[in-house]
Amino acid sequence: MDGGSLRTLDWAGGPDGVVEMVDQTALPGAYTVLRIDNVPDMVAAIQRLSVRGAPAIGVAGAFGVALAVRAHGTSGPAFEAAVASLRQARPTAVNLARMVDRAASKASEGFDAVLAEAATIRDEELAASHAMGSLGADLVLDLVGRADIRAMTICNTGGLAAVERGTALAVIQTLHERGRLAEALALETRPLLQGARLTAWELDRMGAPHRLLVDSAGPFMLARGQADVVLTGADRVAANGDTANKIGTFSLALGARHAGVPFIVVAPESTVDADTPDGAGIAIEDRGTDEVVSLAGASTAPDGTAAANPAFDVTPAEFITAVVTDQRVVRLDQNQTPA
Ligand code: MRU
Repeated sequence: MDGGSLRTLDWAGGPDGVVEMVDQTALPGAYTVLRIDNVPDMVAAIQRLSVRGAPAIGVAGAFGVALAVRAHGTSGPAFEAAVASLRQARPTAVNLARMVDRAASKASEGFDAVLAEAATIRDEELAASHAMGSLGADLVLDLVGRADIRAMTICNTGGLAAVERGTALAVIQTLHERGRLAEALALETRPLLQGARLTAWELDRMGAPHRLLVDSAGPFMLARGQADVVLTGADRVAANGDTANKIGTFSLALGARHAGVPFIVVAPESTVDADTPDGAGIAIEDRGTDEVVSLAGASTAPDGTAAANPAFDVTPAEFITAVVTDQRVVRLDQNQTPA
């Protein structure tokens, strides 16, 4: 794995192999590849966001099950505990629990079967990224009557978040490759700056024109007619279309509605959760006080300040124009639902 082709994570080697992943906490300052060979380290990597983004943590969790089988065998309390720790590492993105379960369902067939299932999940997410990029770009060009598109986005939904290429950022990349991107407007994404650190880095790598905004500038820029479309990813899309995504997404949806701009969610089918009827049933991760009262280790609030830190919000379906998956375009504005 090197900096040339951006693959977020993969299994390296045979049965004795490791999971290699780009350490997203080190970007953009350093491109570092971690080599994970046990479940506790995988859980820690997911929780500190060395690997992040719904599709990517799903694949990481699946490879983690292979590490669990190698350490503990195919059944028994230690194996079950390891699988549970992977499954519960983060609560909001449905991909994690879903892909851990999928890989674990092969445990009775042995290590090779589990590893093969994880590799299949990886390959499915890769293919999905290409399909979403293309379907999403077609939809944007259909909805927006301009030759060159100005697209606003939040968090990081690129190759880093989804093995390669990504979801919403894959649409932006496809528009750029088709010569139809005027500009990407990336929100910095407080508190952990996935937009500033990761999306700006990916846009730069792909040579796409872009500007960075503080989060609170998003709705205002929309109101001033500075963007033609908002494209976001998702951590979980409920059956009715309510969508959990990075905190700040809901504000953008409100701003887009106010400005009459399409608001499009781009997420693979693996992120659509038919078992959750609506957004009220989505567990939202709270990441605690430190991320809010400090930045890069330096205090930004008086000592002892209490904080709330929801990592995600839920955008009601009524504010979403469409959900683009790898297989279909669900027009919520035309009363279609994902499940
Ligand atoms: O906390 P993060 O960085 O994992 O949050 C990620 C997001 O909210 C993404 O928009 C979502 O997972 C989709 S990634 C293709």
